[in-house]
Amino acid sequence: MYRAFKQETHMQLKAVIIVGSVRQNRLADRVLKMILATIQNSYECDVIDPLVMPFGFVKTPIFHYDEERNGAPQWLIKAEKLIKESDAIVVITPEYNHSLSPIAASIIDHFGVDTYKCKASAVVSYSIGKLGGIRAADQGKILLNKLGAICVPHVLSISEADKKISQHGVILNKSLLISLKKLMKDLKWYTMAFKTQRERFGELN
Ligand SMILES: Cc1cc2nc3c(=O)[nH]c(=O)nc-3n(C[C@H](O)[C@H](O)[C@H](O)COP(=O)(O)O)c2cc1C
Repeated sequence: MYRAFKQETHMQLKAVIIVGSVRQNRLADRVLKMILATIQNSYECDVIDPLVMPFGFVKTPIFHYDEERNGAPQWLIKAEKLIKESDAIVVITPEYNHSLSPIAASIIDHFGVDTYKCKASAVVSYSIGKLGGIRAADQGKILLNKLGAICVPHVLSISEADKKISQHGVILNKSLLISLKKLMKDLKWYTMAFKTQRERFGELN
């Protein structure tokens, strides 16, 4: 079985990364660089960055526009397209007050179930503290699962992320490297499983 999985790696896979911080000097940039350096081995990857696309609190979610998205801002239309065309979604979130970051939740809330369903997903949480934002990761998983982007079980919650990842996104900690590799392997398996199923039978209504 595993051999068959390895042979299938020629599949063209697309991922989108949602960045969950707009804080000045955000640690998110290190985490993003780290993820990009790894995920691009297996996926064509795009980034939804709220410092580039002006997400704030949801005023008009994309599904409140008509089907052609007339009147919607171009950046929102683009973000919807990126998620819709992706095979996997990775949410990078810090833990803010024991919760998923508000901007990560808000980005996700701009889109409906149809944008997410029948895909694989993963949450990468981080903090400067000892728990690595595990509570934020759990909340993110519940949200993504509810939307039909099914989360891999493996948890990548990076404690003391400021010490374990360099400014250039280089991993400085062996356990983090092992955990990241495990997450990517699992995510790829889930991604291929959902993609294969979508291509054979279409998406669920
Ligand atoms: C509003 C706020 C709330 C925070 N709450 C937590 C928390 O609940 N748990 C934790 O471990 N760290 C917490 N932190 C510290 C973050 O781990 C740290 O600031 C980290 O750099 C945030 O990621 P960012 O720089 O990418 O925004 C909090 C930071 C902020 C700004």
